[in-house]
Amino acid sequence: MTTEFVDYDALIPNNVGLADDAKLRRALEEWHPGYIDWWMSMGPDGFQMADVFLRTAISVEKDGWAKFDYVKMPDYRWGILLAPAVEGRTIPCGEHVGEPAWQQVPGEYRSMLRRLIVIQGDTEPASVEQQRYLGSVSPSLYDMRNLFQVNVEEGRHLWAMVYLLQKYFGRDGREEAHQLLQRQSGSDERPRMLGAFNEETPDWLSFFMFTYFTDRDGKMQLEALAQSGFDPLSRTTRFMLAEEAHHMFVGYTGVQRVVQRTCEAMNEARIEDPYETDAIRALGVIDLPTIQRKTNLHFSLTLDLFGSEESTNAANFFNAGIKGRYHEARLEDDHRILSDTYPVMKLVDGVLRPVEVPALNALNARLRDDFIGDCTGGVTRWNKVISGAGIEFEIRLPHVAFNRSIGEFSEIAVSPVGEVLAQDAWATQRDSWLPTPEDRSFIEGLMKPEFRRGHFAGWIAPPTRGIQNKPDDFLYVKLP
Ligand SMILES: [Fe+2]
Ligand SMILES: [Fe+2]
Repeated sequence: MTTEFVDYDALIPNNVGLADDAKLRRALEEWHPGYIDWWMSMGPDGFQMADVFLRTAISVEKDGWAKFDYVKMPDYRWGILLAPAVEGRTIPCGEHVGEPAWQQVPGEYRSMLRRLIVIQGDTEPASVEQQRYLGSVSPSLYDMRNLFQVNVEEGRHLWAMVYLLQKYFGRDGREEAHQLLQRQSGSDERPRMLGAFNEETPDWLSFFMFTYFTDRDGKMQLEALAQSGFDPLSRTTRFMLAEEAHHMFVGYTGVQRVVQRTCEAMNEARIEDPYETDAIRALGVIDLPTIQRKTNLHFSLTLDLFGSEESTNAANFFNAGIKGRYHEARLEDDHRILSDTYPVMKLVDGVLRPVEVPALNALNARLRDDFIGDCTGGVTRWNKVISGAGIEFEIRLPHVAFNRSIGEFSEIAVSPVGEVLAQDAWATQRDSWLPTPEDRSFIEGLMKPEFRRGHFAGWIAPPTRGIQNKPDDFLYVKLP
């Protein structure tokens, strides 16, 4: 392992030797004002002048890569940070397996690589846009700080992808970098590239669900790109993953604190039945069945991000060695998988069951299965809170075929437990499975700002531990 010095005093903090690369520096400096314009017009609304207790990446070492301090978000030191190079790294999969990793873009895979980088890059600013109105209804200063931390880091992830485009893809890279600031989440004319990134994030439960499930899709995609034979992409995404972990922590603990507060309120009011919706909502907390419906929605929307189960594009990426499988290096096979098979869930004679297909074609399904496995840990811990409170209720991830718009199950109606239904049978039960307009307006009604230090909105419990072990009443955001 080599470690590289981070030039933190430069206009653009970096460990990519920007000081010695005049062409790249100029390209990035030209892009910078447009980025700041984007941040000011599409970033967190109303809090640009607040002092926020943020972590900023200043190193790429495993420990101590960040420093914490009060920062106004527009002054955040967005930078370009690559994980240390691995000496002698080789291409981990596909037809070039074992050859030295590429330090330059291999010509034959140029357009494929550019496409992958652009799609990843497009999701980063999209989530900032989706979340831009949440600050004004933060349930606490602690939560507000976490939101803004996620936002500035998604901004940095955009920088990371723009660096790759500007450094390695010449004129069309510059054009793509420009377009990344032009598309907008939810726009009719120029939407973001992926469906889930054009949905609104209208409330904080949605934000926690998004960071738990959808940021985890981001993690899986980054994990697959971290395996890339194109070494700069691998190093960029490896460092992004270090930041991404906090985003999922925000989601996991956020939902857990909502669940905890609901259970506490039910116990205090001696309500045992989690389906006594009106009585529970009257306590000013979110009933568990609504949390289940939100889980069903965000989980199924996120599954769509993995694309079609069987995909020749995914096979081509893998064969080319530009995108690997989850933990590719730890898998024990020949890393070419030309004659392997993989079980993919399909509808066969009216029944959902796994069917063996060529493994190379099933890489999206495989990554999606890895994602589902990765989702279960948090859900189990949410359920421990519920059972610990003596309440009989279990949050479950819905069946992979439930409520899908992309791939194998997009045309069929399937219940959360995996029964294939007639469309009208599905429609009559829809409201018990997915959030209703009433659920949404109830949750939105709870979204009142709580900006007093050390206070938390009534529908969410305080965290068990503060950021950097700060006490509950720490002033995480100094409002102007
Ligand atoms: Fe990100
Ligand atoms: Fe993220």
